[in-house]
Amino acid sequence: MTVSTFFHVLKSRPPLRLLAQLSELVGAVEAELRLQMSSDVELVEQIGALTLGAGGKRLRPALCAISAAASGGVVTKERIVRLGACLELIHMATLIHDDVIDGAATRRGKPTASIIFGNTSAILTGDVLLAKAMKLLAEDGDLAIIRMVSAAVTELAEGEVKEVAVRGDYLLPQEDHLKILRMKTAAFTECCCRVGAMAAGAGEAQIQALGLYGHHLGMAFQIIDDILDFRGDHAKTGKPLATDFREGQATLPLILLNDTLSQEEKVFVEEKFGNGVSDADLAMIIRWMTERKAIQKAFLMAEEEGAKAQGQLAALPKSEERDVLHSIIEFVLSRES
Ligand code: FPP
Ligand code: MG
Repeated sequence: MTVSTFFHVLKSRPPLRLLAQLSELVGAVEAELRLQMSSDVELVEQIGALTLGAGGKRLRPALCAISAAASGGVVTKERIVRLGACLELIHMATLIHDDVIDGAATRRGKPTASIIFGNTSAILTGDVLLAKAMKLLAEDGDLAIIRMVSAAVTELAEGEVKEVAVRGDYLLPQEDHLKILRMKTAAFTECCCRVGAMAAGAGEAQIQALGLYGHHLGMAFQIIDDILDFRGDHAKTGKPLATDFREGQATLPLILLNDTLSQEEKVFVEEKFGNGVSDADLAMIIRWMTERKAIQKAFLMAEEEGAKAQGQLAALPKSEERDVLHSIIEFVLSRES
């Protein structure tokens, strides 16, 4: 999904003027990303082009730009484009690394960098993108923003380490899983919103509200990601089904299903968990998730996070940009890819 399609699919359609403005801004981020992908090293350029060409909603630069405007503050286009590109470069680096960790063959329906170029080249190019993001941050030069982004990226990376550490734990407590979601996803969406508001010189109350909005939006986003892993339409998600389960990663639908299983059923599911489940057994486990309302409960938890994100918007001045932040919650809750 390109960024203009992203803005166009928002349920409450933003006014055309704002739509054009946001599309132009994120288009400028896209151009900056292309510039950043240039390198004297051909392999870096090739992996950069593959990553850029795979598309993406550019949700993080969009959150940064919209938060800046919704905070009531003012920022130059040049700064918001540079910061947006920095945030997207970090996101791209994490996904390249994540696909290596997951052994993923496809993302967004296209072959991953690790599949085409091998794990070593993919990991190292992810490092290059991360380094380029740091360079953009330094060029912006705002120490408070540098501190905040560094802390969020640390939390994100530690979240991924924590997730790998609990891999294979079939009885992962729900609380521990939610903590991982906070660390690996919500800390960074919070950061994107805060960066926009801080760059725009917003007041502490607005920065705080936008940060909490970003946190809850990120939690909702990742819970939906957990659900799509089991229930998504492969043609839409562009990812293989049940990667988490096959890899032995307990996520919310499985954790909630476990509460409803008999001892005998638990033994059956645990035996398949991360252990080469057949298509028929997987279909049955997913059917249980639906019949025993584990999917429904997970979705309700995502909706609760969405409602909390919505609650934070009340602290912001009324604006069309604030309405767009509201539509993004609806988009995240109804997304199929
Ligand atoms: C996708 O989640 C992955 C993340 C949100 C974080 C990945 C972080 C790292 C690999 C470590 C840090 C790396 C850098 C460069 C700082 P998911 O695996 O649940 O979703 P998916 O279904 O899209 O794979
Ligand atoms: Mg993954």
